[in-house]
Amino acid sequence: MSIIYNESTRTFNLTAGDSSLCIGVFSHEYLVTYHYGKKIPDTDFSSYEYYSPRTASFNPTRDGSTNCFTMDTYPLEYPSFGTGDYRRTGIRIRAAEGNTATDFRYSSHRIYKGKPSIPGLPATYANTDDEADTLEITMTDTVTGGELCLVYTAFNSINAITKSAYLKNCGSKPFVIEDFCSSVTNLSSCDFSMINLYGKHNSERNFSKNPLTHNRQSIISRRGASGHEQNPFIALVRDGSTEETGDTYGFSFVYSGSYEMGCDVDYYDSTRITVGFNPEQFSWLLSPGEVFYTPETVHVYTDKGLGEMSRIYHRFYSSNLIRGRYKTEKRPLLINSWEAAYFDFDEEKLVSFAREAKDLGIEMLVMDDGWFGHRDNDRSSLGDWFVYESKINLQSLVRRVHGLGLKFGIWYEPEMISEDSLLYKAHPGWCLHVDGREHCECRHQYVLDMSRPEVVDNIFEQMCSVLSSCEIDYLKWDFNRNLTEVGSTALSPERHGELYHRFMLGTYDLMDRITTAYPHILLENCSGGGGRFDPGMLYYSPQIWASDNTDPIERLAIQFGTSICYPASSMGAHVSFCQRTGFDVKGDVALWGTFGYELDPTRLTEADKALIKEQVADYHRYYDLIRYGDLYRLIPPWDGERRVAWEFVSPDRSKALITTVTTRYVTMERFFLRLRGLDPNKSYRNSIDGKIFSGAFLMYSGLNLSFMPCGDMQSYKVYFEEV
Ligand code: GLA
Repeated sequence: MSIIYNESTRTFNLTAGDSSLCIGVFSHEYLVTYHYGKKIPDTDFSSYEYYSPRTASFNPTRDGSTNCFTMDTYPLEYPSFGTGDYRRTGIRIRAAEGNTATDFRYSSHRIYKGKPSIPGLPATYANTDDEADTLEITMTDTVTGGELCLVYTAFNSINAITKSAYLKNCGSKPFVIEDFCSSVTNLSSCDFSMINLYGKHNSERNFSKNPLTHNRQSIISRRGASGHEQNPFIALVRDGSTEETGDTYGFSFVYSGSYEMGCDVDYYDSTRITVGFNPEQFSWLLSPGEVFYTPETVHVYTDKGLGEMSRIYHRFYSSNLIRGRYKTEKRPLLINSWEAAYFDFDEEKLVSFAREAKDLGIEMLVMDDGWFGHRDNDRSSLGDWFVYESKINLQSLVRRVHGLGLKFGIWYEPEMISEDSLLYKAHPGWCLHVDGREHCECRHQYVLDMSRPEVVDNIFEQMCSVLSSCEIDYLKWDFNRNLTEVGSTALSPERHGELYHRFMLGTYDLMDRITTAYPHILLENCSGGGGRFDPGMLYYSPQIWASDNTDPIERLAIQFGTSICYPASSMGAHVSFCQRTGFDVKGDVALWGTFGYELDPTRLTEADKALIKEQVADYHRYYDLIRYGDLYRLIPPWDGERRVAWEFVSPDRSKALITTVTTRYVTMERFFLRLRGLDPNKSYRNSIDGKIFSGAFLMYSGLNLSFMPCGDMQSYKVYFEEV
């Protein structure tokens, strides 16, 4: 059991790997956080009676001046709004009478093996009941009759704890949930910096690190999608910690819609981290008897630095979030038609791509945007998911591509609608809109009202009639704009605050139905590149297109940033015709991700083809190492050096691969690269000159790479194998 309850001290100790979360039932049945960090055995925190000094009249308490417990100074594990805690709270309910004073206190708990799923929402899972234990703590608000259940799962052998919550209306009147965090976490100091991953279209997940100060530092999405702008992830790193050492906390939100997550430092220098829906865009009317579930947050703690935190997320998401056939099966090496042809293709052109691709060793052809309705540009046909027959005969195309020995993939953008479409003509009210208000266009398209079951049914049926008509092996699911005029003619006025979340529930429902109906299909998510690169999407699709930017130098920041939380196997990365570097650098950078091509293979020179064949061989040679290995960010771009370097080490530490890319010319420089993660007692042969060095030498002294290529935008790989 990784969860212990000490009845006499009323304390829970949840142990996950070598981390512990300790919480207890305290004064007046309030729940407090005692500890989150390195594993400790304790279940007696009675010294916490003296946590804060006697407080003055501005700190609300429950029993006058006789007790130093006050709601505003104690680390309340799940604080309620409006009843004494003035900090960022976890939940706010508007009672039928109109007030928002909410006060949840402990009422009961249960502990059981395994991990429950969350109805309608993506979530991590336990592969067996022995892998994890779950604690559910029920808290009640006597006035509204709200019964709040906090759900914690601790994974035994990995430092991951998940938190989510659900609320039941056990009262006699409806109430409105106005704010409902998935998790609240308290740390007893503020000597941290917050890391977040910001960006924009073509430049996603840049690394940013800022010290905490006495205010709120948060990230937010108002887009109805997790978005390009901020990834739903933050880390807190203790002052003095590094990539490989020091206290590091990760908070990753398993949700793809609008959210808000951040940290507050209070006047006692404690830090509170909250993760949840964006309260500006969320409310939910809960009638008596109804239950509402939040998404979950995945918490990781390690004392071994940011790099180890990332590796924990990589392992955990690979084994406990990603599902389906391609969780373990080797992913096909693909070529995508988008940058090769855009909308300008027909069956013959695609077959010519497939023929050339086959010769290069590529395993799948993906037909991107432009195969449906009458779509020749981005102004029409979204919503008309039937084959554009004057362009292609799908059955014949799939037969011919399969005949060449390649798999076949197709593109969809299921949540969208073009004004120029039969669907829009038939159902103009099916897009999100507000009557009488001008409609924002983005890329000439509107967003479907996914909160309506009949819309989800219609798109599902249209997709099935194509997906069942021939053997489709792969589906790219795109989402090329964000939500505006978020109104629905199907929702009553008092339920309109539910629309952003209902939209996500509709999308998840459609993804669930498609992946259930076609379990053999490899789903790849995309949103104008990496605009919905989040754990919610990873639950349905094991890989996500990381960015529309395929320039390998620009990709470095994107891929390093993405690696902070997401495994290499999830990161869609292709070699394209972009001009800045040779094919060698493009290949070395794309090899980090799922690897593939995004170019017209009929336009390649013989030299390019020869190089691509080598890259294809490398893809197979290093596949297991990159997919199952541990990543070490040796020189990340945010260090400001003139080169970057990364390394994969196999789980048994018998193999390693390092890649370096010089981003700016390095002249006459000495360069000793110290590897990480090797076994100091093993000996390794390197692929440059075949020389053998001990793991200790390679890690503590460093390999002399001063003579390797270091011109502008050059790259190379070095492979190490145990002898
Ligand atoms: C988005 C995707 C691209 C491509 C186009 C097609 O921008 O990110 O990869 O699929 O849509 O319209």
